[in-house]
Order: sequence, then C-alpha cells, then structure tokens
Amino acid sequence: MQIVNKQIQFEGVPAAVIAEKYGTPTYVYEEKRIRENFRRAVAAFTKHYPNFRMFYAIKCCNNLAVANILRQEGAGIDAASVNEILLAKAIGLGGEDVMFSGNFLSDDDIRQGLESGVIFNLDDASLLPRVLKFGKPELISFRINPGFGDSGIGEFVTNAGPKAKFGIHPEHVVAAYKAAKDAGIKRFGAHMMPGSCMTDPEYFARVTGMLMDIIGKTGRELGIEFEFVDLGGGLGIPYKEGDETLDIDKTAQRIAETFRTKVAEYGLKPPRLMMEPARYFVGDAGYIVGRVHAIKDSYQRIVGTDVGMNTLARPAMYGSYHHILVNGREDEARKPVGLCGQICENTDFWVKHRPLAEGIAVGDLVVVENAGAYGYTMSYQYNGRLRPAEVLVSEGKHYLVRERETFEDLVRNVHVPAHLAPKV
Ligand code: LLP
Repeated sequence: MQIVNKQIQFEGVPAAVIAEKYGTPTYVYEEKRIRENFRRAVAAFTKHYPNFRMFYAIKCCNNLAVANILRQEGAGIDAASVNEILLAKAIGLGGEDVMFSGNFLSDDDIRQGLESGVIFNLDDASLLPRVLKFGKPELISFRINPGFGDSGIGEFVTNAGPKAKFGIHPEHVVAAYKAAKDAGIKRFGAHMMPGSCMTDPEYFARVTGMLMDIIGKTGRELGIEFEFVDLGGGLGIPYKEGDETLDIDKTAQRIAETFRTKVAEYGLKPPRLMMEPARYFVGDAGYIVGRVHAIKDSYQRIVGTDVGMNTLARPAMYGSYHHILVNGREDEARKPVGLCGQICENTDFWVKHRPLAEGIAVGDLVVVENAGAYGYTMSYQYNGRLRPAEVLVSEGKHYLVRERETFEDLVRNVHVPAHLAPKV
C-alpha cells in the first residue's frame, strides 16, 4: 500500500477505483506482498535447516486465488476440515502436500479424511481406532500439546498448555504412537500448534525444545523414527504502531538450533522440519476498503462505516486493534473519534476512541489494515448484511476474486414448509 497525492493505492490501484468498481466494503489482497512474505520466511528456514517444507494454513484466507499464489511459491496446505482438503484439491494439491489437522472429528470427517489420501494429523489417541475402522493409513501424525503455548492475541488464540482443547497431553504421547505402531503403521510424523501471532524468537525456541523432548523420548522408547516434525504456525505480524516486528531470520535460526540439538541429544534420524503459518503470509497483504455513511455527534463523535463486526470479526471477538486510514486525509490534523459498522450490537462499535483525520466526512473511504488473515473467512451475514467482495491487485491490475454476496445468498439454502408460506 502507498499513498500517492493523498490517495491510497494498492500495488498501484487506487482505493477509489476499487470502491467505484466493486463497491464497499471490499477485501483487497496484494499479490506481490504475499509472495514477498512467503519467500522471506522460506528463505530464512531453508537457510538454517535445508530439509524444510512450508505449508499454508488455508483457514486464514481461503480464497483460491490467494491459495494459488502460495501454491505457485511452493506451499503445501494445512487443512482444518474436509472442505479445506477439498479447497486444497481445487488448487491441485493432495497427498503429502496436504496436512489434515482437524479436531473433535465426526466419523464422516475421519472417513473422508482418510479417503482423501492426505497426511492425517490426529488430535488425540482416541481417534486412532476410529481411523482404523475405515482403513490403515501408511503415515500417521499426532498433534501434541507440548504443555505450553502463548499468543499475541491473548488467551483467545493460545492453542496449547493446560487450558487448550487441542493436542495430546504430553504424558499420553508414547501410548498414542505405540498404539499406531502396534496397529502396523510404519511411517510417523509429529505436530504442534501452540499459539498465534508471536514475535519472540525465544518463545519459538522454547516451545520447539519442549516438543522435541516429548518426541525424543517417544522415539527412543518405541524405536520409531519421525519423518517430519511440523511446528505449526504462529509467526506474528505487528498490528499497532510499536508492536514488535518478527525477526524471521533469528526465529528460524533459534528454531533450527534447538531442533538440531534435540535431534542429536535423542539420537533421532534428522526429521524434515515443517511449519504451517498463515497470518505471516497474508495478514499485512490484505485490507478492507469501506465507506463512511453517517457521522453522529452523541456522547462522542461516532463515524459510521460499512466495515462492521460482520465484515471483520476480530475487534469484537478478541478486542484486536486494526489500523485505519482515511483516504485523502492522512496528512490532516487528527481528532479522537469512535468508529463503528452497521450492526445492531454495541460490540460493532469496534473503535471507541482513535485519533483520525479531523475532516473525516460522509462519503470518505476508510482503509482497514492487516485484514488479510482471519478477515473474510471469519465474516458472516448477521443482520442480513452480506459478505463483501474480494479483489486481488497485481502490478497495477485488479481482479475480482470473489463476488459480493446478494440477497439470493441469504436465502439460498432455506426452505419454508408449505403450511407456512404466504399465499401469493
Ligand atoms: N496450524 C493450525 C493447526 C492452526 O490451527 C493455525 C491457526 C495455523 C496453523 C496458522 O496459525 P498462524 O500462523 O496464522 O498463527 N482467528 C484468530 C487466529 C486463530 C488461529 C487458529 N489457528 C485471529 O484472528 O487472530
């Protein structure tokens, strides 16, 4: 994103062009930025540990245009559900290019997951007999709760440790792999996803060490080798001025050092190292272009836009900060205002007090930053508000990559029994 003659642009495409052509609110993704983010991360990890593979957790932005960019760059896909496996297949990925990390799966999920032929990553040992009912995978991975996790989003996204619902308790890990080995499974991997949006290299080193201690002991005790160890995602981005920027090289270096030390300590055959981040690739490459529709002076000044909790759920869900720019006015003096969407809930009043351009007026465009990850995929239709459009920008061109929903989408799957239908 740049500001040229006061006008906000995305890879050379003015926000005003996006608003004019596609309406508001609209999600915008910058192709170049996604590629740069991915390349930076892969370069850092392969530099410090060449036997490395990067996956993309498609849950954070499941637009197939975005997923195809990452596929072109060499990413595999981390899928959280059967439908996400199907999204991976829709971009031509399957087999060991896809990791299926569901949790609390139904029998149907398990059967379809197995039939899909992707890497099955089990969230608990209790799933194994249920998998075996449908067939025996050649390769199995378990998601391990290393006993500790952390998150830059607070407890909301801390996915390991005693309070998390995910992964296998450290004391149950040996039994899980033993059951798999006894069932005749020959190939093994291991996985964790301890938390999201972290920027401290030492955190990554610590949690990698904890996981490797569990894996090392398991390998020793059972005489099994691990083909891969997947450290999950969690590479953070700054949202607010003053937030730490992740030192990706240092992070990769500290992870690789810890990994090698533990591999040597336990005499493991060096596994392939894998990660499956998401936010780091698309978070800062995505924006929402919205419009100011009304301004109210009440107990305070409230700027009403079409970017609400339905468009971007993170502020209302987690209290997350997203930076907001006002098109054409970024060099004006600032005055504190509130800002909200159009939903009938007060959690939609998602900015209570923020210095924005003092001349902000009805009709202005606002641009919400860092909306690429967990933005569109977490949007919903509450109050009959429809999901926005998604646009990809690349080298001065813009492409509609998902249409804005219409009223038909609101009633698409709804059936009214005949005795309730109005007589026309
Ligand atoms: N792998 C697994 C198994 C995951 O559950 C996740 C995210 C990732 C990878 C990617 O994590 P990342 O690199 O993006 O940290 N909705 C929240 C974030 C939830 C994260 C869920 N799992 C937010 O808006 O901040």
